[in-house]
Amino acid sequence: MIYILDFGSQYTKLIARRIREMGVKADILPFNTDCRRLKKAKGIILSGGPSSVYEKDAPLPNKCIYHLNIPVLGLCYGLQAIVHMNGGVVGKGTEREYGPAMFKKVRDPLFYRIPDVSRVWMSHGDRVENLPEGFVPIGSTKSSPYAAIKRGKIYGLQFHPEVSHTEFGQKILQNFVFRICAAEKDWDVEEQLKEAKRELKRVKTHAILALSGGVDSTVCAVLARKFIPGKFTPYLVDTGLLRKDEAKEVVEYLNTIGVKVNVIDASDEFLRALKGVKDPEKKRKIVGKKFIEVFERETGKGDYLIQGTLYPDRIESAQIPGPSQVIKSHHNVGGLPERMNLEVVEPLKELFKDEVRRIARALKIPERIYGRHPFPGPGLSVRIIGEVNRRRLDILREADYIYINMLREEGLYNRIWQAFAVLVPVRTVGVMGDFRTYEYLIALRAVVSEDGMTAEPFEFPHGFLQRVGSEIINRVRGVNRVVYDVSSKPPSTIEWE
Ligand code: XMP
Repeated sequence: MIYILDFGSQYTKLIARRIREMGVKADILPFNTDCRRLKKAKGIILSGGPSSVYEKDAPLPNKCIYHLNIPVLGLCYGLQAIVHMNGGVVGKGTEREYGPAMFKKVRDPLFYRIPDVSRVWMSHGDRVENLPEGFVPIGSTKSSPYAAIKRGKIYGLQFHPEVSHTEFGQKILQNFVFRICAAEKDWDVEEQLKEAKRELKRVKTHAILALSGGVDSTVCAVLARKFIPGKFTPYLVDTGLLRKDEAKEVVEYLNTIGVKVNVIDASDEFLRALKGVKDPEKKRKIVGKKFIEVFERETGKGDYLIQGTLYPDRIESAQIPGPSQVIKSHHNVGGLPERMNLEVVEPLKELFKDEVRRIARALKIPERIYGRHPFPGPGLSVRIIGEVNRRRLDILREADYIYINMLREEGLYNRIWQAFAVLVPVRTVGVMGDFRTYEYLIALRAVVSEDGMTAEPFEFPHGFLQRVGSEIINRVRGVNRVVYDVSSKPPSTIEWE
């Protein structure tokens, strides 16, 4: 096990993923985790972070980590923390070093099989001015003479090996994990299934399971059937805000493997609750509240609730406390367990999304289901700007269906992290045959991303957007214009509301 101490970097989760990709379990812990907890680690990584080590109240790890005789690797802020805590000097650089730099290495096991000069990714404002006693530089760039340092098995890198812009980043992390920490590969599907089984076996009486139509809850249902057959009942609330055929496909598939899903059609109720509501946050809250109400009223008895919470959802709360702002109130089935007095069982709580997909493949779940793009809890209600009503939902569902099918047909679906259509209820003028039209606008979104925290618009091959645009305009009544959203996150978000 490798532990990653989190100093608030946007890349912390990425470090954990990179290590798990090697078949080694990596967990993220708060920066000030007690050494008793860290003792069993094979290695400790200190993440980057937005702070400056010389500031009052800067987050620093417990000093004892340097005396555990466990290899330590500090990345960016992590390197600066090592320098600062061991008697060196970190100061404010004259300017922020951001972007690619050429890194010149010194021979060291950390750089085994890495060229003498390679490209790395820098993102820092502070810089090391004096190394602490006993530390030596093992690599440099033009502006950072101490781009890599070490003392025994304590290492520091000023650049970010976890981001893909660092040419040999994965190789450097591999060298740390296998050559320096001597970790073993034991984090595989088999081990993950064992953990899921252990968690599900906590169900002593009966559990209920909320299906959303998405990958995670479907995998939960298949795992529950495998490990606790007969001890759970799955429910799917049809909010009327799902995409075309989304629920149907999942229900039919589960049926074929002997899991009978109770579908609760509550679409009228959701639509009534949303009537006249335009504000995005209000819509989110209404859908969340209604979901709990319907679920509580319509489902049978159980003592447990099986939920598809993933590892990244959980670590959000372990991050260093700071003044973080609510951008959007995400909802899934939060609130249910307390209201219904249910104990929560989370068989996927140790996993990242790509690990869940690997498990799904091992469980022989069809690719069409496990490869699905993420879909937000409030569903299409946040993809219709302003008021939601049945007509708008029908238009959006149809446009989205055409778009997604064309992506699948042209082999683009799996190259995109998330794609969907948005209905913008402004009307613009068009002409069809000899007639003037005055109809809605559909915006198409497609992004590439690693985890949804940051995202870039997908670059479509020439001609695709025109084809899909004309298909939607020709086939969906109520739409006479289609546009493509070219914004990145940040500063935009992926969903429009
Ligand atoms: P944003 O729009 O915040 O979205 O950039 C990032 C990712 O989160 C999804 N999303 C949600 N997922 N419940 C969810 O389960 C929600 O309320 C919710 N809101 C946004 C979004 O689809 C994207 O994948």
